[in-house]
Amino acid sequence: MTGRIPQEFLDQLLSRVDLVEIVNSRVPLRRAGREFTACCPFHAEKTPSFSVSPSKQFYHCFGCHAHGNAIGFLMAYERLEFLDAVEELARYAGLELPQRGGGGDSSRTLLERVTQADRFFRQQLRTHPARQRAVDYLRQRGLTGQIASVFGIGYAPPGWDHLCQALRGEGVPAEELLAAGLASRDAQGRLRDRFRDRIIFPIRDRRGRVIAFGGRALDSDTTPKYLNSPETPLFHKGSELYGLHEARTHCRQLPRLLVVEGYMDVVALAQHGVGYAVATLGTATTAEHMERLFRVVSDLVFCFDGDRAGRAAGWRALDVTLPFLRDGRQVSFLFLPEGEDPDTLIRREGQAAFEQRLAQATPLADYLFAELRAQTDPETLAGRARLAERAQPLLEKLPEGHFRELMNERLRQEAGVTTTRLHRPSTAPSRADRNLQLVRTPLRKAIALLLYRPELAQQAMVNPSAPLDCNEPGVKLFSELLETWRNDPQLSVAAVLERYRDTPEGVILERLAAWEPEAPAEDFQFDLEFADILTYLRRRADPRGRLPDILLRRGAPSALSAEEREALRNLSKLQKN
Ligand code: UTP
Ligand code: MN
Repeated sequence: MTGRIPQEFLDQLLSRVDLVEIVNSRVPLRRAGREFTACCPFHAEKTPSFSVSPSKQFYHCFGCHAHGNAIGFLMAYERLEFLDAVEELARYAGLELPQRGGGGDSSRTLLERVTQADRFFRQQLRTHPARQRAVDYLRQRGLTGQIASVFGIGYAPPGWDHLCQALRGEGVPAEELLAAGLASRDAQGRLRDRFRDRIIFPIRDRRGRVIAFGGRALDSDTTPKYLNSPETPLFHKGSELYGLHEARTHCRQLPRLLVVEGYMDVVALAQHGVGYAVATLGTATTAEHMERLFRVVSDLVFCFDGDRAGRAAGWRALDVTLPFLRDGRQVSFLFLPEGEDPDTLIRREGQAAFEQRLAQATPLADYLFAELRAQTDPETLAGRARLAERAQPLLEKLPEGHFRELMNERLRQEAGVTTTRLHRPSTAPSRADRNLQLVRTPLRKAIALLLYRPELAQQAMVNPSAPLDCNEPGVKLFSELLETWRNDPQLSVAAVLERYRDTPEGVILERLAAWEPEAPAEDFQFDLEFADILTYLRRRADPRGRLPDILLRRGAPSALSAEEREALRNLSKLQKN
C-alpha cells in the first residue's frame, strides 16, 4: 500500500456516489418505505433481509450482519481491496485520485526504477551474449518462450554492475537503485547489481505492477538458489503472492486457487494448463495472504511436499486459515509424494492426472482431525480427552457459522465419551449474540440517534458549554461525532463511518448505524429523546449540578430504560443530600 488517501477525498467521493445506484446495478433493489431491500448477496436466503438506506448511504443485512458503505460494498461484492474499491468508485464518479504526497512520491519513483529494471532483464534474455545459457536452462526445465513471456521472465547477466550502469545511464541516482533493492555497495563503496547471472521472475502486485524480483541461480552450486528482492516500501513478501496477477488475468473464471511453494512450480503448472497456482515467496503462509486469496476465490487448495518440512508447513497454513473459514469457503490440502514438487509432478504426469490429485485433496476438516488422531491415541479415554483438548483452541479460531457448528459436532463424535465436558452451558449467550446485541446504554442510544439523524448535532449546540464526561471511552467518540457534523453538516453517515474503518470504534458505529426506531416516530420525538439523553450525560458529568426539573417532571424520558431512570433518580437524591 502506497500512502493513504486523504480523508477529504473520501468524503467527497462518498458524497458524489449513490449507494442505491451502485448496489442496484448489481443486486436489483425494491423500495420498502424509506429504504430499499433485496435478498442478501452475501448469504443464501429466500426472503429479503438486506437493506440499503439512501439517507445514510449505508447497507445492512439483518440475516448475516454484513454492512458498510459504498466502498465496503464494492470490497465485499467485487472482492476488491480497499484502494482498488476507492479507485473503482472514483472512476465511476469521474473523480481523479489525488496524488499521494510524502511516501507516495518515493513509492512512485521506486516503482519506476523497478519497471526500468524489469525492462532491462527481459531485454537481456533476448540480447545478451551470454543469453544462450539462460535460454537453455529454461528450455531444459520445460518452459516455452510463450509462457516465459506471460510471466515476464528475464535474465540478469553475469558481471558486477550491468544493470547499475544501464540505469545510471538513464539518469537514475545511485540512491534510488539502492532503495529499490536493485543494488548494494561493496566494501569499497562501489555499486553492485543485486542479481547477477540469474533467471529473473518479476513479482507483481495485485494491479500487475512489477514491485520486486526473484532470481534463480543457473547452476546447482551457486547459493542461495533463489535470491529475492529485499523488503522495500513497495515489497512486503509476507503479503505478496507470486502469480496471483497472472492467474487473475489469464483465467477468466477462477474456480479456485492452488497455493504452492515455489516460483518454478507456478510457472511449470501454467505451462501445463494449470494457470491458477500462486506461490508464497519463501515465507510461511500469513493472514495477509489469506485475506488476499479469499478476496479472489472461496476455494483454496494448499499443496505441500510430502516430507516433514512440508507437513509442518501444512499445519501452519491450517492454523492461519482457521479464522478465515466463513461459511461458503473451502480449503483443502494436497501432500505430494516424497521427493516430488508440483513442477516435477506435472511434467511427469500431465495436467489431467495432476488435477485428479487436486480433486482428491484432503478437506481441511479431515486433515485437522487426522493429524490430531495421529498425535493422540483415540483408542483410549485419555487419548480422546487429549484430542479434545488440542482441538478446542483450534476450533475456537473458526468464525461463528455452520462450519464451526459442524466441526464442533465432529469433535464430539471423534472425542466420543468426553462429550459432556465439551458442551457449553446452553443458557450462556454465544459470543456472536453477545457481540451483536450491544447493551443499549443512553450513550449508545445517543450515538445511534445521531447516526439516524445527523441534524441532531446542530441541536446539541444549544448548550455547548456544558462538558460531557470524557472519562468514558464512548463519550469521546460521541463528542467527536458531534464535532464532525457541526463542522460539516452535509457529511453522510457513510462518510463518517469511513473515518473509523478498521478501528474498534468503527465496529461499534457500524452496529449502531443499523439501529432503526422500533416504531415510526415524528422527527421531533427523536429530537426530544436526544435532548433528554444529552441532559442526562451532562448531568452525570457534573455531579455538583442539579437535575433539571423538566427531566423529572416530564416523567419517563422515552430513551431511558426503567433501570436508567432509577439510576437517574438515585443520582438526583445523592445531589440533593
Ligand atoms: P525450493 O527449494 O523448494 O525450490 O524453494 P523449488 O521451488 O523446487 O525450485 P527449483 O525447482 O529447484 O527451481 C521453494 C521456494 O522457496 C524460496 C523460493 O521462493 C522458492 O521458490 N527459496 C528457496 C528462497 O527464497 N531461497 C532459496 O535459496 C531457496
Ligand atoms: Mn522444484
